[in-house]
Amino acid sequence: MHYLLLLSIIIAIAAPLAGAVPSQAVGQSAKQVYQTTDKFPLANPGNIPAHDPNIILHNEQYYLFKGGVNIPIFKAANISGPWEKLGTVLAGDSIIPKNNRTRPWAPTTIEKDGTFYCYYTVSAKGSRDSAIGVATTRSLDGSPWTDHGVVINTGTGAGSGVWPYTITNAIDGAIIVDRDSGQAYLNYGSFWHDIWQVPLADDLLSVKDAEAPDAVQLTFIPRAKSKPEEGVWMSFRDGFYYAWFSHGKCCNFKNGFPARGKEYSIRVGRSKSVRGPFEDKKGKSLLDGGGTVVYGSNHGVVYAPGGLGVLAGNNDSMPDILYYHYLNTSSGFKHGQAQLGWNYLKYEDGWPVPVQGRNATNNAFGRGPPGWGYLAILLLLWLCIWP
Ligand SMILES: *[C@@H]1O[C@H](CO)[C@@H](O)[C@H](O)[C@H]1NC(C)=O
Ligand SMILES: *[C@@H]1O[C@H](CO)[C@@H](O)[C@H](O)[C@H]1NC(C)=O
Ligand SMILES: *[C@@H]1O[C@H](CO)[C@@H](O)[C@H](O)[C@H]1NC(C)=O
Ligand SMILES: *[C@@H]1O[C@H](CO)[C@@H](O)[C@H](O)[C@H]1NC(C)=O
Ligand SMILES: *[C@@H]1O[C@H](CO)[C@@H](O)[C@H](O)[C@H]1NC(C)=O
Repeated sequence: MHYLLLLSIIIAIAAPLAGAVPSQAVGQSAKQVYQTTDKFPLANPGNIPAHDPNIILHNEQYYLFKGGVNIPIFKAANISGPWEKLGTVLAGDSIIPKNNRTRPWAPTTIEKDGTFYCYYTVSAKGSRDSAIGVATTRSLDGSPWTDHGVVINTGTGAGSGVWPYTITNAIDGAIIVDRDSGQAYLNYGSFWHDIWQVPLADDLLSVKDAEAPDAVQLTFIPRAKSKPEEGVWMSFRDGFYYAWFSHGKCCNFKNGFPARGKEYSIRVGRSKSVRGPFEDKKGKSLLDGGGTVVYGSNHGVVYAPGGLGVLAGNNDSMPDILYYHYLNTSSGFKHGQAQLGWNYLKYEDGWPVPVQGRNATNNAFGRGPPGWGYLAILLLLWLCIWP
């Protein structure tokens, strides 16, 4: 009898100390689906609502692009803000005649020879009638952008009958340039045959050999009915290209939660070639459902992180930054409540690991010594075997 009493007391003390109970659960169903792990560090808040954020560093200022009406642009001296709204990429609707051209998704901006190219998605939830478009400008502070419209179409529209657009979904574009050849590639895709890559023409406004593009597939989940991989990003570091993507359910949690672990998480594979094949840390091909989880829901606080990008660092005092959107379980789960979050990355055996806190030079991130929760569990075990 007293064992049971002791047991309850110890569990009551140990559980919060071990971080096993979310501080503020929104409801019973939510409690059962939160991830309480401390395997991943908490998100550093970016202090701005964002979905599918994209950040570039230009003249030591951070510029943030996000999904929204006409593609909003913000600027800050610090990635944690405060963010100043500069305006929007598009002056009005995208010239792409598809839904929802008022509110493009998932922008990605790159700079080449003094011109900025913003690739954006026009699509609707659950639809493959999508397009990736592009707009350009010569200056981020004020000068107008020119909308060039479609780069690729799926579902309907010019070129949508060309393979692989016949089987893929033209959303979530991201650009990578091959270090050796200088060739630029557009990576894109989602649930329909997952993530693909096509070479861009030199003008960066169209696909090279548009009628028969030299496409490769980057990720795939064979044998599964649902193939929840999207939001590709590609980075380069120390001889490797890293193919990042979001896996799982992104949104609409106000209508119900998926089973724990089926929500968005951030995954990666790497390759010596920009064209792949990409493998995860265990050697599993990304074409066979592989992908090492770099960042997922944690501490009962951060939920469904995804829609990521990587801001390349230069050196030890300016490491790579992984940024993404996430939901805070104590704030709510509506689309507009997704927040920008970020962590510095360190690399262990060439694999990226997000670092706790905002200290760029503190690379000693680890689990640290066992906490009180572990000691209490040890005490419990000891009590159980006590004669
Ligand atoms: C989550 O929200 C709570 C309450 O607003 C806040 O105290 C906490 O810092 C937030 N955490 C993160 C990681 O956003
Ligand atoms: C960025 O802001 C955070 C707090 O919001 C602060 O701790 C940090 O020192 C700032 N970094 C820089 C480079 O200003
Ligand atoms: C497109 O987005 C705008 C802004 O969010 C919204 O008002 C409008 O209803 C949407 N249109 C369609 C067809 O979904
Ligand atoms: C590291 O990179 C940052 C950002 O470009 C730069 O300001 C800083 O001087 C560099 N530090 C070293 C030690 O090279
Ligand atoms: C950051 O970490 C380094 C190395 O651990 C430490 O020397 C420095 O004092 C830390 N800076 C802050 C602001 O915590």
